[in-house]
Amino acid sequence: MTQDEIKKRVAEAALDHVVAGTIIGIGTGSTANHFIDALARIKHKIDGAVASSEASAKRLQGHGIPVLDLNAVDDIPVYVDGADESNRYLHLIKGGGGALTREKIVVAVSRKFVCIADDSKLVDTLGRFPLPVEVIPMARSYVARELVKMGGRPVWRQGFITDNGNLILDVHGLSISEPVALEARLNNIVGVVTNGLFAARPADVLLLGGSDGSVRTLT
Ligand code: A5P
Repeated sequence: MTQDEIKKRVAEAALDHVVAGTIIGIGTGSTANHFIDALARIKHKIDGAVASSEASAKRLQGHGIPVLDLNAVDDIPVYVDGADESNRYLHLIKGGGGALTREKIVVAVSRKFVCIADDSKLVDTLGRFPLPVEVIPMARSYVARELVKMGGRPVWRQGFITDNGNLILDVHGLSISEPVALEARLNNIVGVVTNGLFAARPADVLLLGGSDGSVRTLT
């Protein structure tokens, strides 16, 4: 199976977690896109979706799935999204697609976070994938200097603006042995909106697709 076929397979497996008659939280990225396409087949069973990006909202609407404003929703039983890396504790790096802040907000409201990924994303130590950090534009250079002091190599994602009108610094060279502590430390830098570590609130379930078509469940 190709990596894209694995993503599709694992996205379809996540349909088992959808709770009928509720609002579902939807992530962003190529794996989440496969999930949206699969969800379209059972759209009559759900009341609607909250999207973590403009791109996902557009795709959902294209399938005729109602998209609700998060402020109008107080309960999301399940959120489904991909990840760039996961460790064995389901601490994640996310934000390769730049939607990390809205993803983190929708996760915060959700009761269960089902992460879907191909098994190349499972690592012993987070950090091989550059850690995305969303930054208020006027703070870009200051935050970059602070990240260098912390041992990282921040690279400005040129030409990219988040759905919130901000910038992304991708931080290379971090070996993240304490994801919960680092997540909090980075978020304490003035000018950082949030960072792509999902550790204080990790995934609850990780569905991992293999090249043989298998889907493993880690909790
Ligand atoms: C989007 O901002 C990210 O958090 C994605 O969830 C992550 O980059 C995974 O993307 P793919 O499903 O495209 O690999």
